[in-house]
Amino acid sequence: MSDSHAFDHLLIEDRDAVRVVTINRPDKLNALNFAVLTQLRDVFRVIAADPSVRAVVLRGAGEKAFVAGADIAELAALSPIQARDFSQHGQRMMRSIEMLGKPVIAMLRGYALGGGMELAMSCHLRIAADNAKLGQPEINLGVLPGFGGTQRLLRLAGRGAVLEMCLTGAPIGAQRAYELGIVNRVVPAEQLEEATFALAAQLATSAPQALRGILDAVLVGGECGIDAGLDYETQAFAVCTSTSDMREGTRAFLERRKPVFRGD
Ligand code: COA
Repeated sequence: MSDSHAFDHLLIEDRDAVRVVTINRPDKLNALNFAVLTQLRDVFRVIAADPSVRAVVLRGAGEKAFVAGADIAELAALSPIQARDFSQHGQRMMRSIEMLGKPVIAMLRGYALGGGMELAMSCHLRIAADNAKLGQPEINLGVLPGFGGTQRLLRLAGRGAVLEMCLTGAPIGAQRAYELGIVNRVVPAEQLEEATFALAAQLATSAPQALRGILDAVLVGGECGIDAGLDYETQAFAVCTSTSDMREGTRAFLERRKPVFRGD
């Protein structure tokens, strides 16, 4: 698929087997309103069902921001019931990214604040430009993170970091985020695209069933306690032996050539 879809807040393109999803509201620093959440939900449903897509890059349009948060103009007018629905809508969409079964890389340039940091944390890997600023500033608005921030930041960086970031609302720079394990890599801003797409291309040519097994074992097994988690790993490992990719990978090693993984 190389054409654009009709998502008015998203730009969609393919680079070989990598689908690139760009949140496109640069005049509002790509803030997440209800419509953007819905379009992201829909685009990830399509990706989940399309075996030709083997990795995803998620980014924001423009130079200033990945995403500067949930849309505060919309947020300000929510009733409690609408707030519950907004929170659940965002949480479900982000959970669908986390559970996609294919690797998703968040490419972080400029601000990743509030819902933007939460969205980035629902992705599997995060590459940040050295100018990136991450934060959970909801406390400054009199609320708290509502798209999973308290839970995913806890798991990524631990109780001390999540409490400091959420209680103070103070943003941190890319290097500090790296030290806390929140981002995987920090690169000079001018190398962000190259570094992100090199990683995405590598993932897109890896064996999809093995990638899926890793994601499942870590994301599902990792929540279940050690014995159930080990069992997840065993099941996923065993499933891989039924794939032609596993035969290709082992044969290519023995024949001293690069494997070509077809995805079956
Ligand atoms: N929701 C809605 N609109 C937002 C937004 C958000 N989260 N973040 C930025 N915008 C809008 C601004 O209102 C402004 O719109 P306008 O030009 O129509 O007035 C535009 O994006 C540019 O933002 P601006 O604040 O002028 O840019 P800046 O460079 O001065 O500041 C930030 C950048 C990120 C520091 C600042 O925009 C900010 O603090 N945003 C909110 C961050 C936040 O609290 N996020 C959590 C939300 S739950």
